[in-house]
Parts: sequence; structure tokens; C-alpha cells
Amino acid sequence: MGHKKSRTADGVALVAAARAARRRAHAPFSGFKVGAALECDDGTVVTGCNIENATYGLTICAERVAVFKAVSEGHRRFRRVAVVTRSLAPASPCGPCRQILWEFAGDIEVILANLETVIGRHTMKELLPHPFGGRLL
Ligand code: THU
Repeated sequence: MGHKKSRTADGVALVAAARAARRRAHAPFSGFKVGAALECDDGTVVTGCNIENATYGLTICAERVAVFKAVSEGHRRFRRVAVVTRSLAPASPCGPCRQILWEFAGDIEVILANLETVIGRHTMKELLPHPFGGRLL
């Protein structure tokens, strides 16, 4: 499922992968399509899109699809993630996705983009200060 991509400084290729994934979103209820592309430490890019459900509550976000696909394929170390929506304002990951990203990827860079351009860059520590982590258990 993942494919090899070389790392570029600004993440152009990663954002392009997230835009392509966004087109595969299943969002008939909200109409809000999201794509994510997660870069693994070996350069593999694993993508995800949001997949909605008629019960609404079973909907899964693009970011979690990407993380779970990557982990299920054996990837455990990540460099950065790109998230793409059509909105003009940056759509940053929801709370549950921040927790999942933090637990599996740590303090990676989060690149937020729309269909035209990159509109935000953050670190996971900025998005999730004082996180809960497994080390506390
Ligand atoms: N969604 C994502 O895929 N990622 C986010 O970070 C925020 C929200 C999806 C869930 C739902 O299918 C739609 O966007 C509207 O909330």
C-alpha cells in the first residue's frame, strides 16, 4: 500500500500524496473530504482519507486511517504528516487524532495544506501540549 518517496525539504511530494488520498475520501454525510500522508523513516509514504459511516459515530478521520495503515504494515517510526482539506483556513487534526499521532509518531512535523498551497506548519508538541502517554502507565 505504501510507496517509496524521497524526502523533500518543504514536503511538496507529501502534500501531493495527501491531495491524491483526499480524492478517495468517503464523505457522503459531511461532504468534507480530508486526505493525509504520513512519511515513515524509510521514506515510505502511507496515505489515508476520511471514511464516514451512516451511524456518524463510526466515522474515522484521514489521519487515523494513515497511522493505522502504516502500523499494520510494520512501520513504527515517522518523520512528518501532511493533511489536506479544501478549506481556506487550516484544518488541523482533531483531538483523538492528535493523541494517536502523538503515541505512534511523537513530535513530528504536521503540514496543513489545501488544494492550492501549504497553510500551516506545526509540531505535534505545539498541537498537543502536556500529552498523556504510555510512559505514565
Ligand atoms: N476529519 C478528518 O478526517 N480529519 C480531521 O482532522 C478532522 C475531521 C473528517 C471527519 C469527518 O468525516 C469530516 O472530516 C467532518 O468532520
